Order: sequence, then C-alpha cells, then structure tokens
Amino acid sequence: MILITGATGTIGSHVARLLTEQGVPFRAMSRRAQPGGVQADFDDPASLARAVAGVDAVFLVTVPPVPTAAHDLALLEAARAAGVRKIVKLSAIGSGETFDGATVGAWHVDAERAIEAGGFAWTVLRPPSFASNLLRFAPLIRAGEPLPNLAGDSRQAVIDPRDVAAVAVAALTGDAHDGRRYDLSGPELLTFADQAAILEGVLARPVDVTDVPTLDQVPAAMATGVAWARAGGAAYLTDHVPRILGRPAGTFEQWAHDHREAFTNPRE
Ligand SMILES: NC(=O)c1ccc[n+]([C@@H]2O[C@H](COP(=O)([O-])OP(=O)(O)OC[C@H]3O[C@@H](n4cnc5c(N)ncnc54)[C@H](OP(=O)(O)O)[C@@H]3O)[C@@H](O)[C@H]2O)c1
Repeated sequence: MILITGATGTIGSHVARLLTEQGVPFRAMSRRAQPGGVQADFDDPASLARAVAGVDAVFLVTVPPVPTAAHDLALLEAARAAGVRKIVKLSAIGSGETFDGATVGAWHVDAERAIEAGGFAWTVLRPPSFASNLLRFAPLIRAGEPLPNLAGDSRQAVIDPRDVAAVAVAALTGDAHDGRRYDLSGPELLTFADQAAILEGVLARPVDVTDVPTLDQVPAAMATGVAWARAGGAAYLTDHVPRILGRPAGTFEQWAHDHREAFTNPRE
C-alpha cells in the first residue's frame, strides 16, 4: 500500500492517475474527505497515524504556509511508528545551494536529512520549475495582459509535472532508485520569455511578458531561491528523466499543447 500525500495537488494527482493505470493500490491523502481517500492534515498527528497505518511507502509532498520542515517531520514520525519502509520525497531544485549568504530551500534540506537519518529506504526528487506554473497566468493570458517575469533572462530546464510523477512512481514501486537524490530536468533550457513565446505559438494569440526587476513581490522565504535561479544557478540539464523512464523528457511545447484549453476562454 502506497500513501500519496498532496494527492489533490499538481504532482500527487498524476501519481494517483499513474498508480491507478498500473493497478497499484494506494491511499490518497487530502484535508478534505474524498471517495476512497484518507482525510488527514500534516498539523494533526492523530490523522497522520491513521493515514500511514498499514502503508509500505509514502509519496511525501508538503507545501507549508511558511517554509518549515515541520510537516515532513510530523509525517516521518507517524511513518516510523507505523513501520513504513520507504519515503519518496518531492523536494526542489537548488535545495542546499547558498546564495547571498542564505540557503536555498533550507526546509527541504532539513526534511531530506531527517528522511535519510530515519532508517527508511528513500528517494529524493529535486525538480526545476513545473511547466504547469504557467496555469496561474491563464487569466492574464485570456485578458491579453502581460505576464510578470521574475526570472529575468535566466534559463531553467522547465519540467512537465507528468514526468516528475512518473519518476516518483518508478521510485515508489521498485527498489532501483533507493538511496538516490535526483536533480531532475526537462529536455531544454528556457527563459520565461521563451515559455511565453512557445505558448503564443501554441495558442495563436499574443503572450507578452513584462520584467519585474526587483524581488519585492516575492515572499521573503522564497526570495533566495528565486534570486539564485535568476542569477543562473538553475540553468542545467540532467538525463535522469530519460534514463529512468526510458523515453525523452516531455517538452514545454507538448505540455502547452496538451493544456491549451486551460488558457482559452470556454466560449472561444
Ligand atoms: N511549482 C514548482 O515549480 C516546483 C518546482 C520544484 C519543486 N516544487 C515543490 O513541489 C511541492 C509542491 O508540489 P505540488 O505543486 O504538486 O503541490 P500542490 O499542487 O500545491 O498541492 C499540494 C497539496 O497539499 C495538500 N496540503 C496542503 N496543506 C496540507 C496540510 N496541512 N495537510 C495535508 N495536506 C495538505 C493540498 O491538498 P488538500 O487541499 O486536498 O488537503 C494540496 O493539494 C513543494 O514542496 C515545492 O517546493 C515545486
């Protein structure tokens, strides 16, 4: 039995879809009651104990409102008590890098260390920016307004969230990826303006960007990671996705094509 945390979110929902397709039993965790799911909250230890009971492996996704490993640590404590064997954690690109004297993704690093020290089999996934992040700009695109660009002209190997989920499923369902920390990447380095231009081509409508020269609008907790990426820290490619999945990583253009309806007005 696999527990998917963050099961209603971007990556977790794809993990659930893939496990369903493969006929692998799983339990989907959400704070809301879902048919066939388990209702639990990282802030409620008793609910976590119920969620991990009888579970062999956990897909661990946390999005704490402030950056802290507390949610990861709460889940790990419950998992240890329940005899869970494996943890596959969704971390993030750059975690542990230093920039301007601060640590990128320090809370992810704290959680990764706790997993490694916890006696579990483990796999850590550190993906770059998800292609799906562009969905949050769909209202601006529909309104013909420019998208705010916090990344300057830095490039990043934007990844299709479906590939992140597929790698997670490989790690959850086999032992070949135990003890591995994967810096995942998509197939090509893209600026934010490149992504907008690709969307423009796919949607056949203008998608402009406007530079946001300061990081004043970025929550302080995320500013180090954004500044690190903007300075070029995230501009690298790896071959983990094709090696693990046995096929090329998905392109941003393919992702945009598959999600084009989300960017257009339902009446159009
Ligand atoms: N976006 C990116 O470009 C990017 C890149 C690299 C790494 N990451 C990492 O990816 C992770 C986010 O993954 P995602 O985008 O798949 O997540 P997401 O779409 O934001 O979904 C997260 C899910 O977590 C659940 N959740 C939130 N608070 C909870 C709580 N207190 N207890 C239990 N469940 C809770 C929510 O489900 P319910 O509402 O149903 O409870 C939500 O659907 C983060 O750790 C981030 O650092 C993101």
